[in-house]
Amino acid sequence: MATFGYPEIFFFTFIVILLPAVLRSRSWRKSSGPTNWPLLGMLPWLLRISRRIHSSATQLMNESGGTFEFKGPWFCNMDMLITCDPANIHHIFSRNFSNYPKGPEFRKIFDVLGDGIFNADFELWELHRRTTLSFFSHARFHTLLGRAVWGKVETALLPVLDSFLEQGVAVDLQDIFQRFSFDNICKLVLDYDPQSLSIDLPYVPCEKAFNGAIEALLYRHILPESLWKLQKWLGVGKEKKLMEAWKAFDEFIYPHITLGNGEQKDDAKLLTTFRKAYEEKNIGSSNGLRVFLRDTALSLMFAGRDTTSTCLTWLFWLIAKNPLTETKILEEMESKLQLKEDKKWRFFSVEESRKLIYLHGALCESLRLFPPVALEHKAPIAPDTLPSGNYLEPNTKIIVSFYSTGRMESVWGKDCLEFKPERWISKGGGTKHEPSYKFPAFNAGPRTCLGKEMAFVQMKMVAAAIIYHYNLQLVEDHPVTPSDSVILQAKHGLKVRLFRRNV
Ligand code: HEM
Repeated sequence: MATFGYPEIFFFTFIVILLPAVLRSRSWRKSSGPTNWPLLGMLPWLLRISRRIHSSATQLMNESGGTFEFKGPWFCNMDMLITCDPANIHHIFSRNFSNYPKGPEFRKIFDVLGDGIFNADFELWELHRRTTLSFFSHARFHTLLGRAVWGKVETALLPVLDSFLEQGVAVDLQDIFQRFSFDNICKLVLDYDPQSLSIDLPYVPCEKAFNGAIEALLYRHILPESLWKLQKWLGVGKEKKLMEAWKAFDEFIYPHITLGNGEQKDDAKLLTTFRKAYEEKNIGSSNGLRVFLRDTALSLMFAGRDTTSTCLTWLFWLIAKNPLTETKILEEMESKLQLKEDKKWRFFSVEESRKLIYLHGALCESLRLFPPVALEHKAPIAPDTLPSGNYLEPNTKIIVSFYSTGRMESVWGKDCLEFKPERWISKGGGTKHEPSYKFPAFNAGPRTCLGKEMAFVQMKMVAAAIIYHYNLQLVEDHPVTPSDSVILQAKHGLKVRLFRRNV
């Protein structure tokens, strides 16, 4: 339970008195950038932009050369450095990695993930990383993955889309992608397919709980800790949603964690591999094996559910806004794959998806312009000076905006806001590599995403199957904007109408 001392009480009092006065003042209404107010610091600006946080931060980054020192209210420990500068990213995530662990602040914000990989540092992180990597790099895993993804496309995704087409009603593609990736990641992590992607689109509380949780997690980055703790204590606002999500996660995951000896024989299961690693090393969670496995499972579900579904959502929105790119994707399929097939659904294999270079470029553009993990949070252990020249005291809060990195003219050129899959094609016709500090969608350095290959395979199989079978049209007047959350979903989903192609 949260406790409040004099600093918090004092803070709330002066917020109640000062904030309304500032919000009424003329200079506040006229100013576009952050003003450093006495006592309140730049909090009024932060609150004003909190409903379009990523684009406002990007504007600030562009105006300030890629790095900005934010001053929080007096007494609130909210000062932070915001950066999207590739040189700083390279320094923090790779060159001086050991000085920038996730740290206790990160863990406090992402407490719902417990001792899972995202919160872990040092020995515990190494255990997670090694165990996940050994599972993901097994040849058997890749064969199973390809089969599982296509099985889901053929038996769930395409039939569900077809039923919307036959009824002639619009579908929220983002909801479909979230269900698709939720079922896939549950099968992988828990060896259980909840079949949330079915014709009747059943309500699965855990599947929807992710959306509430990630919004609250962003607000924990921008509100003073004492304020979100107060909300948590009172059980109101975003914190209420997070508490409900937490309950839904536990109710869903725990029944799939069995600790009986029989399970130990099955090496093909991810949680069995983790159980063995935990028992061998005995350095996992202080809360015991069952909680450790829950934290491991939930973290991997977070990693796999929202990232791929978000990238696919923005891909289809970008394609709909740039119809020429759709023609090019279809041309590439025609020229590189044998497309004629008698079956109802044309099968796209893992090997075929690797040949689709233009489609790969389109996915990279979606990740550049709308990185699903929009920001990262870091803090140095020892004092440090960044390549941008900013000096950091130990524990300085650093927010790294990946969203802004992808939209900086100085990094990507004058056409940085345009969707150009060609950007990712080398002179020889292969995929062009960009360094991760310039393209940090999958993170950079030793903590680079472990699911990158898996994600590309899955996303290409899905995108190829949909583009081959359907022509999509956006529902007019349906607003499509990024949500204010740590995962960059489309705030109101992506409503489209489907028309059949290639029958
Ligand atoms: C488009 C898809 C994906 C994107 C953009 C993405 C992005 C990222 C990012 C930015 C991180 C760093 C997060 C942090 O340290 O706080 C990360 C880490 C990670 N991702 Fe992914 N991810 C994707 C798909 C996946 C999938 C499908 C999995 C499979 C379960 C996965 C597994 C992981 C794991 C295990 C880590 C932790 C790595 C570590 O801390 O050492 N990711 N990913």
